Amino acid sequence: KPIVLSGCQPSGQLTIGNYMGALKQWVGMQQDYDCLYMLVNLHAITVRQDPLALRNATLDGLALYLACGIDPNQSTLFIQSQVPEHAQLAWVLNCYTQMGELNRMTQFKDKSAKNVTNINAGLFTYPTLMAADILIYQADQVPVGDDQKQHLELARDVAIRFNNQHGDTFVVPEPYIPEFGARIMSLQDPAKKMSKSDDNPNNFVGLLEDPKKVAKKIKKAVTDSDEQARIYFDPKEKAGVSNLLTLLSGASGKSIEELVPEYEGKMYGHLKTDVADAVVALLEPIQQRFHQLRDDQAELDRIMLEGAEKASARAAKTLAAVYEKVGFIPRP
Ligand code: AQP
Repeated sequence: KPIVLSGCQPSGQLTIGNYMGALKQWVGMQQDYDCLYMLVNLHAITVRQDPLALRNATLDGLALYLACGIDPNQSTLFIQSQVPEHAQLAWVLNCYTQMGELNRMTQFKDKSAKNVTNINAGLFTYPTLMAADILIYQADQVPVGDDQKQHLELARDVAIRFNNQHGDTFVVPEPYIPEFGARIMSLQDPAKKMSKSDDNPNNFVGLLEDPKKVAKKIKKAVTDSDEQARIYFDPKEKAGVSNLLTLLSGASGKSIEELVPEYEGKMYGHLKTDVADAVVALLEPIQQRFHQLRDDQAELDRIMLEGAEKASARAAKTLAAVYEKVGFIPRP
């Protein structure tokens, strides 16, 4: 089976964007691919995190992965920091990555422009750690959103460079574009994507939020001032309405083409009520399963340990090959 790897940052509560753009797709891939899914807490600290909040968000994330349908018997599910080989390979890859390449990364430019008081070296070398995450498992395919395409390209370049210098070592990964990939936008500012670390909580829907609050947020979502209040899909001209349609499609399972005719002659309020109902119906069972899992620390510990051991056993093989190739002497 082709090897697939992906992860979310526990930099806050996972959102309905993370669900529709990532988790839901991941669940569907478990049958046909050899999947590795992680919580990337090493990446999360490139932005300052409160230690207690990070710990809780990581455990919440783990329980949410499970509640959404990631099966630890089928996939390898783990916490990035519990597999030290990621950081070890990242160091080597840092030495095979040029400053100029990292300087061109648009996410670094965006994130450092937003947070001028903490432009740390980790934020700069984030793409090399991501390359290590991928290359250490010899992943064939990586599901990535638009914003991560440039990072994947860098991972490919570094893999090719290392292979050219030292002989075949890494599989060169391909992007995996999901068939029904959904990009969920901010509720109040639908020109930008929904983000869990957004300062304005009205911009996102957290997977663990109280359903009443969720419904309220959706009903307050920005639409537009089209006097005829027409409902159709056009992410440029009708960003807010299109985002609501995407949410409804993701939560109800109906395609957008199917949904649009149902709203002919109806008001925005009608659409919002339906989106709110569908999202709440989606979240309720996930939250129920989440609470059962989150309260069972012993079971979470067992799953973490098993996942870390499975991942480490695979990662150690690649790391040993890399160390040997660069001339490191194995510990006697
Ligand atoms: N709004 C979104 N719509 C669709 N997919 C999304 N993803 C994130 N936001 C959306 C997908 O979720 C996966 C994990 O993302 P991440 O947590 O590693 O980082 P991110 O993309 O930076 O997500 P956030 O929520 O915006 O985090 P912060 O605010 O901490 O930076 C990825 O597959 C991503 O495409």
